[in-house]
Amino acid sequence: MAPEYILETTGLSKNYGRIHAVRSLDLAIEKGGVFGLLGPNGSGKTTTLGMLLGVTVPSAGSFRWFSEDDSASQRRRIGAILEKPNFYPHLNAWKNLVLVAMIKGVPRDRISAVLERVGLYERRFDKFRTYSLGMKQRLAIASALLADPEVLVLDEPTNGLDPQGIADIRRLVREIGDMGKTIILASHLLDEVQKVCTRFAILRRGELIHQGRVDDDFSEKIVVEIASVNGERLTEVLSAHGSLLSLEKGEERVIASFKQGVTMEEIGSYLFEQRIALTHLALVKKNLEEQFLEIVEKSK
Ligand SMILES: Nc1ncnc2c1ncn2[C@@H]1O[C@H](COP(=O)(O)OP(=O)(O)OP(=O)(O)O)[C@@H](O)[C@H]1O
Ligand SMILES: [Mg+2]
Repeated sequence: MAPEYILETTGLSKNYGRIHAVRSLDLAIEKGGVFGLLGPNGSGKTTTLGMLLGVTVPSAGSFRWFSEDDSASQRRRIGAILEKPNFYPHLNAWKNLVLVAMIKGVPRDRISAVLERVGLYERRFDKFRTYSLGMKQRLAIASALLADPEVLVLDEPTNGLDPQGIADIRRLVREIGDMGKTIILASHLLDEVQKVCTRFAILRRGELIHQGRVDDDFSEKIVVEIASVNGERLTEVLSAHGSLLSLEKGEERVIASFKQGVTMEEIGSYLFEQRIALTHLALVKKNLEEQFLEIVEKSK
């Protein structure tokens, strides 16, 4: 079955004078899951999302949401947080969302559900200005969810948050993705995209240099090919290693997968300590950064 696309762009471009912020972007985003737009500062992520949300006028190219031409009803199917959330500081979360519900023409009875969804229900009567940065960001997500959109667009939702706040937002994004909504998330953090997203695209200087599945391109495992004169003893010793994930026995070599963080040096010295005479030891899969650099290299 052909995939259903929630968004397609064709030659989408934006110039600011002589700056090519986005260069002829051809993106196709499938329905469902969390899509990561990964790129360093200034690579054109916000400009791209701005065009898709109708706040930035493209210089060239086009895009289609839900395989339809642009219409007002379409916009209601998209929830977004582009800029810093704008709430009234002296009002509590509940009242702020009542105002948003009025503007969006959404029934008020959605408010409790979205506050619960983002874990702010207990704190709903506290003033917005007393909220932590992470709570403010979660309220912004609640607000974007009010009209029950099919797509949620988030621009760097974990920027400026502490590790706990980052973990909370990432979990929330994954949970919203699991609810069947499609999420488009811009991030400059490789590990964020790897942890949160199912599919991703890499932008560099406004150009799309790669599109793929996170599972295919980034696996957290360290995979090593090992051979020894005594194969039986080798598998025995490897099986006893605390970070071993799996072991595949070949004719002459075994393929061992280890948890991320394990290094070749560690594996080598572990086997040496166990008196295994190696005839072969080679890295098959690389760590996250190495895998990323490989993708970037290939695109050159
Ligand atoms: N309103 C504007 N006027 C002029 N140049 C702009 C404007 N907005 C963006 N740019 C330029 O376009 C390029 C892409 O910027 P953009 O904000 O889209 O990048 P980004 O990937 O979102 O970066 P960041 O990770 O820092 O948020 C940059 O060179 C930026 O300076
Ligand atoms: Mg940006």
